[in-house]
Amino acid sequence: MSRFMRIFHHLIRSVVFLSVLSISSVHAAEKIDLIIDTDPGADDVVALLLALASPEQLNVLGITTVAGNVRLDKTSRNARLAREWAGREDVPVYAGAPKPLVRTPIYAENIHGQEGVTGVPIHEPAKGLEQANAVNYLIDTLRAAKPGSVTIAMLGPQTNLALALVQAPDITKGIREVVVMGGAHFNGGNITPVAEFNLYADPHAADVVLKSGVKLVYVPLDVTHKILTSDQRLKQIASLGNQAGKLVGDILNEYVKNDMAHYGLPGGPVHDASVIAYLLKPELFSGREVNLVVDTREGPTFGQTIADWYDTLKQPKNAFWVENGDAQGFFDLLTARLGRLQ
Ligand code: BDR
Ligand code: CA
Repeated sequence: MSRFMRIFHHLIRSVVFLSVLSISSVHAAEKIDLIIDTDPGADDVVALLLALASPEQLNVLGITTVAGNVRLDKTSRNARLAREWAGREDVPVYAGAPKPLVRTPIYAENIHGQEGVTGVPIHEPAKGLEQANAVNYLIDTLRAAKPGSVTIAMLGPQTNLALALVQAPDITKGIREVVVMGGAHFNGGNITPVAEFNLYADPHAADVVLKSGVKLVYVPLDVTHKILTSDQRLKQIASLGNQAGKLVGDILNEYVKNDMAHYGLPGGPVHDASVIAYLLKPELFSGREVNLVVDTREGPTFGQTIADWYDTLKQPKNAFWVENGDAQGFFDLLTARLGRLQ
């Protein structure tokens, strides 16, 4: 073989090698097909903005709303507001369950205000809700999806998904994983001494989802209470110079006051945004597979999550329990992504 031919073959081999490499890196950076189920809620709004600012990583198929922090009409309005603020009216919003499966409804107006978001002016967004109900949307979308392809970010009570699972248990096939903001283990709850709000607001729904066999990740208070705002972090967001930075700065300034006073913390958690950060940069978080149950019995432990962190009971592991997070990494990510918005 001539020298020229040898060089030519070498070049061809390099080109083939490089294209295989780039195909696999495209695969590694594959977009996540995502449905966000939410009850905005101040921290839900921040989570929605973070997700909608990350289109190269998250393909947000739809937003489904549920009653939780405030009534369903208000959570649905606030989800549409977040979509408008992000300039992402292309993402459909579906309203879902107006009340929990079994228990009487509770709201968190003491934390999120009468409208569900404080610190910013609220208006009726131009774009409305989709016609379909969120539960039907979940069933139709998950049935039509490629097996194991859709991730669900669960930022409120789990009523919508539980209703969908009861009506159509086969939809688990379409689900890749459900990443839940909820639960508390090591440091107690935020609505009772042992229960976290989302689980307490509809423990029966959480129980249905836990028993469905879907892959679950829990982002509980254990970790969200380690990822706290500070004056410096909020100043950086507020001084981004765009509408999103101003909005999030103003919303969080109000939102964190309660938790700071209640827990005597130097800053406040932004719970739901940690779920989106987990999807965008899982390396910021750590945890372990556990056996997880939720208490649905009336009484002082109603809504409590019991995560068998030390595998004491030797029961099957049914959830990945996130225990630690990189707070500065979270705020760097949030600030950078908000900086992309209008
Ligand atoms: C959770 O409860 C709600 O008030 C927040 O939006 C968050 O989803 C924190 O306990
Ligand atoms: Ca929420």
